[in-house]
Amino acid sequence: MSRLKTALILIPVILLTACGGEPEDTRPGQPVAHRRAAFKEIIKYFEPMGVMIRANEYDAAKFQSLTLRMMELRDKPWEYFGPDTNYPPSRSREEVWTQPEKFEAGKKAFFDATDKLAAIAGTKDKREAGAAFQAVQKTCKDCHDAFKND
Ligand code: HEC
Repeated sequence: MSRLKTALILIPVILLTACGGEPEDTRPGQPVAHRRAAFKEIIKYFEPMGVMIRANEYDAAKFQSLTLRMMELRDKPWEYFGPDTNYPPSRSREEVWTQPEKFEAGKKAFFDATDKLAAIAGTKDKREAGAAFQAVQKTCKDCHDAFKND
């Protein structure tokens, strides 16, 4: 591997471990680390969709491929919210476990909104795409307001 490539791979690792000062997830199976990584993967594809809409640079084909990627990732975080998995560095609120029905409802809202997004993805209508995007974004925010710290 070239030295540059090695450096490019190492820099983010160093930054991640140096800043934050967060405890590492050392539990078996690393459920907290896995669910956080799964959300980060989702936002990697979701965020550019919002940027595109806000910047008035809507590109139907790109929007559709980002949506498809997101649909592949939307199932991933949930299996890692097992019992007794709320420990540092988790930012989950205990309500995830004490109000499981409400958490399930938040998940369902997210799945319903992403279903609708997938159904319209590829549309040439920028407003329709924007509305579907915002409906999903609202489900992220609603759930975070109730179940995630900061
Ligand atoms: C049903 C609830 C729910 C929905 C819906 C939801 N999230 Fe989250 N999200 C959480 C919880 C809870 C955490 C905290 C996880 C932890 O640290 O234990 C979280 C954490 C995150 C994180 C932080 C990862 C990290 O670095 O710690 C990101 C980014 C994120 N979510 C993005 C999204 C996006 C984008 C959406 C919508 C497309 C979304 N989430 C939808 C509940 C939800």
